[in-house]
Amino acid sequence: MTTNVLEVKNLKLHYFTEQGVVRALDGISFEIARGETLGLVGESGCGKTTTGVALLNMPSPPGRIVEGQILIDGIDIVGMNSRQLRREVRWSKIAMVFQGAMNCLTPVYTIRQLMDETYREHTDKYTKEDANASMLKYVNMVGLPDHILDRYPHELSGGMKQRVVIAMALFLEPSLIIMDEPTTALDVIVQAQILNLIKGLKKNLGLSYIFITHDLATEAEVADRIMVMYAGKAVELGSNEQIFGLQGPMHPYTAKLLAATPRLHQKVDELAFIPGSPPDLIDPPVGCRFAPRCPFAKAKCLQVEPTMTEVGPRHQVACWKAIKDSDYERQ
Ligand SMILES: Nc1ncnc2c1ncn2[C@@H]1O[C@H](COP(=O)(O)OP(=O)(O)OP(=O)(O)O)[C@@H](O)[C@H]1O
Ligand SMILES: [Mg+2]
Repeated sequence: MTTNVLEVKNLKLHYFTEQGVVRALDGISFEIARGETLGLVGESGCGKTTTGVALLNMPSPPGRIVEGQILIDGIDIVGMNSRQLRREVRWSKIAMVFQGAMNCLTPVYTIRQLMDETYREHTDKYTKEDANASMLKYVNMVGLPDHILDRYPHELSGGMKQRVVIAMALFLEPSLIIMDEPTTALDVIVQAQILNLIKGLKKNLGLSYIFITHDLATEAEVADRIMVMYAGKAVELGSNEQIFGLQGPMHPYTAKLLAATPRLHQKVDELAFIPGSPPDLIDPPVGCRFAPRCPFAKAKCLQVEPTMTEVGPRHQVACWKAIKDSDYERQ
């Protein structure tokens, strides 16, 4: 019996647009153990949200999973039909707090009506009593009073709405929750409260998370492991310590990303920035996708794409320099 809640193998999700095929996820593999939080980081457009919706097998049109496996509790969900996914997987095994979800709560329904709808949609055993009991339990668990259930979204503050969407993600008791930028639109005090809530839920419920954020300081706070993405690929995957610790990351892109993170008392013109921009995902370069922006790139990097390679315990990196490739070192 596997202790992994999730195993993703060579997952590819492409968007079939009029301009061409956007290779938004181009073969990523990772696993999440029970109770573990995996942080996803990388520049805008690298495929973080696409990874989240792929794991629900719910790509937004014109997206399609074209290859790979998504094993949730050992069962592959890629081939499942929409009814199976709705009844057996989404929200009951794996739930997602979507990017900006708190601003998308349908304004004409109360919180009770919104939660009731989710309950009906995703369970075969719906009863009004169970639904109401469950709503109360999870609304209280996220620190909100009972009467919130009869309020409309516009009557709530940003922090309260974010607690509501977290309660909605929790209340069919999934084993894995994907949180896409759950604190980005909140002020720093409310951000801290929501982060504490998320950490508390993890401890008390033994939940696993995928936590997506632009903010590396937040990621260092909540994640056990970090996957760094670049242009639809994973480029480094390791523990919080391996990525953020004293030894520092092994991939030049991760190092640049860390150096570009603002710290208090640091002036904007002191920040390192990454020259150039990520490649076009319709026609990505051959070789390493980061090579055109990498200060360490050599001929091999521009010609041959590096694959994720083990460089330490559960630490992988896709970089010829980092793995001390003999061709690279000779060039
Ligand atoms: N529905 C869509 N149709 C076509 N292309 C899309 C669609 N959704 C996303 N993409 C493309 O897929 C790539 C990955 O997008 P994604 O939204 O996953 O990035 P992200 O890492 O979540 O970015 P951000 O940090 O800005 O939220 C981008 O190049 C984006 O333009
Ligand atoms: Mg996103």
